[in-house]
Amino acid sequence: MSAVRFTESRNPAPVPAERRAEILAAPGFGKHFTDHMVTLRWTPDQGWHDGAVLPYGPFQLDPAAAVLHYAQEIFEGLKGYRHADGSVWAFRPEANGERFARSARRLALPELPVADFLAAIEILVRTDREWVPTGEEQSLYLRPFMFASESFLGVRPAKEILFSVIACPVGSYFSGGIKPVSIWLSTNYTRAALGGTGAAKCGGNYAASLAAQVEAVENGCDQVCFLDAVDRTWVEELGGMNLYFVYADGRLVTPALTGTILEGITRSSILTLAGEQGLKVEERQIGIDDWRDGVDSGEITEVFACGTAAVITPVGRLVWDGGSIESPGDGGTGTVTGRLRRALVDIQYGRTPDSHGWLHRLA
Ligand code: PLP
Ligand code: COI
Repeated sequence: MSAVRFTESRNPAPVPAERRAEILAAPGFGKHFTDHMVTLRWTPDQGWHDGAVLPYGPFQLDPAAAVLHYAQEIFEGLKGYRHADGSVWAFRPEANGERFARSARRLALPELPVADFLAAIEILVRTDREWVPTGEEQSLYLRPFMFASESFLGVRPAKEILFSVIACPVGSYFSGGIKPVSIWLSTNYTRAALGGTGAAKCGGNYAASLAAQVEAVENGCDQVCFLDAVDRTWVEELGGMNLYFVYADGRLVTPALTGTILEGITRSSILTLAGEQGLKVEERQIGIDDWRDGVDSGEITEVFACGTAAVITPVGRLVWDGGSIESPGDGGTGTVTGRLRRALVDIQYGRTPDSHGWLHRLA
């Protein structure tokens, strides 16, 4: 049970129902936000306090706020799924809350108890439940985040922290829908090194990935794939997704958690679902040459990316400086990828029994 209480102030000028309907019909990703947000403050003396549901709107930040200078910030991403009976559910939100606490420890931020993390999400979704879309593959994307709001330019953990949750209705992350995405292999940049922040979900990781993402787009690709920072050989993950490889002999391989990649909740759920589907799941190091040679020889039959935003998205093409290789398949979703995707989204949208206890009712 959460000990935090939230005061509630309703937005006096919510988005008119007609405009909201227009947005929900084609929400895109991360463009339109709901009428409210949650905030919660922390200081060493008071701990977590001042919980509030407020009209969605700008924060007032001092120009010396530490986050603007030293990037002491973390975030999470999860979704609210509308079920056929109108109820709204989150998928393993406790796992997001636990990862948020791990990220907080790494960034020297105060830990928010998982119960408070869940309470903040629940009250926002209950307040803005009309914003949860009903369309196929649509959901309400929830973005909890926390940052150093103290105005102080000395480099040390801040003593004033703001936690907030905002929400936006979303459709598919990639504008092309569920068609295969192309991946740029970054050899100029790495994402994370051992002892760094790769396993934390902090804004700085994403800032550092942008130059590589720009290269990806310049080379006609949708996403960037990073290799390990030491040998520049081992496949780590994409800028915002984990990777999986389907082998012709029934193996399903994903890069092992070495401390430099984000432990995705979708990744972890796929490990379970794939085992139940009779695949032999392996978490291990996979070299970039294993990817290229495996696709070339037919040993690897499907490659896919996974994450909250991306769900499960087939990878169509790997491009690097000097070459490219098409993933197998005919430009669609491979059989194994499709089966795993259906198993996952059927649970998320309540179309199949939740035998793992992964769903958590929000509204
Ligand atoms: N890796 C990175 C870098 C991400 O940003 C994400 C998205 O959250 C993931 C992996 C997938 O994590 P999850 O499945 O928990 O969304
Ligand atoms: C998510 O999947 O929730 C992320 O945070 C990734 C980002 C690319 C939107």
